[in-house]
Amino acid sequence: DRIKHIRNFCIVAHIDHGKSTLADRLIEKTNLLSQREMEKQVLDSMDLEKERGITIKLTPVRLIYNSKNGEEYELNLIDTPGHVDFTYEVSRSIAACEGALLVVDATQGIEAQTLANVYLALEHDLDIIPIINKIDLPSADPDFVKKEIEDIIGIPADDALLISAKMGIGIEEVLEAIVERIAPPSGDENLPLKALIFDSYYDNYKGAISFVRVVDGNCRQGDRIKMMSSGKEFEVTEVGKFIPNLIPVKELKAGDVGYIAASIKNVKDTRVGDTITSAENPAETPLPGYKKVTPMVFCGIYPADGQDYENLRDALEKLQLNDASLVFEPDTSAALGFGFRCGFLGLLHMEIVQERLEREYNLDLVTTAPGVIYKVYKTNGEVLELNNPSNLPELTEIDHVEEPIVSASIMTPTEYVGTIMELSQDRRGVFLGMEYIEQTRVLMRYDIPLNEIIYDFFDALKSRTKGYASFDYELKGYKESNLVKLDILINGEKVDALSMIVHKDKVNERARKMTERLKDSIPRHLFEIPVQAAIGSKIIARETVKALRKNVLAKCYGGDITRKKKLLEKQKEGKKRMRQIGKVEIPQEAFMSILKLD
Ligand code: GTP
Repeated sequence: DRIKHIRNFCIVAHIDHGKSTLADRLIEKTNLLSQREMEKQVLDSMDLEKERGITIKLTPVRLIYNSKNGEEYELNLIDTPGHVDFTYEVSRSIAACEGALLVVDATQGIEAQTLANVYLALEHDLDIIPIINKIDLPSADPDFVKKEIEDIIGIPADDALLISAKMGIGIEEVLEAIVERIAPPSGDENLPLKALIFDSYYDNYKGAISFVRVVDGNCRQGDRIKMMSSGKEFEVTEVGKFIPNLIPVKELKAGDVGYIAASIKNVKDTRVGDTITSAENPAETPLPGYKKVTPMVFCGIYPADGQDYENLRDALEKLQLNDASLVFEPDTSAALGFGFRCGFLGLLHMEIVQERLEREYNLDLVTTAPGVIYKVYKTNGEVLELNNPSNLPELTEIDHVEEPIVSASIMTPTEYVGTIMELSQDRRGVFLGMEYIEQTRVLMRYDIPLNEIIYDFFDALKSRTKGYASFDYELKGYKESNLVKLDILINGEKVDALSMIVHKDKVNERARKMTERLKDSIPRHLFEIPVQAAIGSKIIARETVKALRKNVLAKCYGGDITRKKKLLEKQKEGKKRMRQIGKVEIPQEAFMSILKLD
């Protein structure tokens, strides 16, 4: 009977369609928090998230709802991150639920990212409740969105709920629909423990805490548990629920959503997707679908001031405590000194980590161009997984190189089809097909090398389609490709941090653009500075930074000491954000400016 009064659900929505606003309303309606406490949106609590307006970390919330049928229900809302970098985490939160609210903006319709997540929900047999939000807006067109839901997703939308999360319209109906239309969990308390980890985070006192959905069995303080992927065992120190803060309870049972703390030192031992079982009475098979997430995008991160190396290491270690998918190892660059080679799930993940390092840890960083993992097949039979272009073996030792390819789906109004074809072709995309999902919108499918989208594909897509196209991708596999290493020489010296791996057909254009950009971002010195691009020993592009005509100080008339001082002071400040490469000073922005291709 207990289990019949539980509903576990998530919200699937495209960024900005109103997921957080709806979640806040649900919390408010169930009186979990007073209006005053609601000042801040509860679910998105990280600063950065708020600024970027995207949901990064999952935060579950337990709601108690008194239904119109007179019974009390426990509703567990499991939040899902909305961005393509975090698809695997989305799939685990979906696996922890029986139902999903599909929230679609009444003025926008369905987007590619929503689609990917709805398909995930359908794959897991979730009960889906279509909700059309923002009906308060004059341009809302609920009938159009209903038809879209039926045509594109293929689920009935007759009984879609029409709401305005912002104005608080239709919220009660959403809660009733959760009770009526979503199935209660089906688990067995008497079977051995099986709990799915859908998130984890590091607490200074309690250690790594697993957020779990208990599928079978039960778990309480003092139990010995085992992680099924690693076989590691721990003793449970606390179990609890999200109310919405972590509140201890006596036990978690089949059907429950809650957390388990077990003095675990490292979030790496609480991998998302892993199954927790009992050490004494283990389940025979883990829950399906566990996969170890591996970083796809790499870059070098160096302290702008060499003195900060240890601080940077500390900061990375601290971030890693809460982010099992961030990897890093020490790296040295002739140009940039000591730093780290870091791996990320995707570009957004990379940007978030960089920003947190600069903002929360007050570090000035120099970041090198992002790259992917190449598979280098050597003539001696060895296969190298290369994430740092500087480590590419000599050409004579290489048999061939493979690069990662992703399958991309782009959803766009028909008027931009030509533009997108041009952009994708320019990024070496292979067109696979196009479906009309309605008269004015199409879904285009491409295979594109990951290497080509990690630069500014998102930006280019958005700016060329005025923000109307949406985009999603997943790794498809590796493919042989004609790739070369492009080196940059400044004043005759190779700058290893600027080396990149490029497709042969693109290398001349890239070389030209990089040298132009660098020429523009390197300030004039007292001497002329050649900026060259080379493949091996062959120079393929060159620009020159002209020499300054006179010493700047010559401009101050001999006697004016204070002015001279001021000028020197100013130069010194400018210097802090410069890297000395040989005799040349290169501003930090130069390292990033080469990333913009468009
Ligand atoms: P992510 O956290 O990035 O997934 O975004 P989200 O889907 O949570 O969107 P959020 O709730 O932050 O809402 C996005 C914007 O839409 C905000 O400016 C909201 O105020 C606005 N919004 C949400 N619901 C409604 C609504 O019913 N009507 C109107 N007019 N605006 C709404």
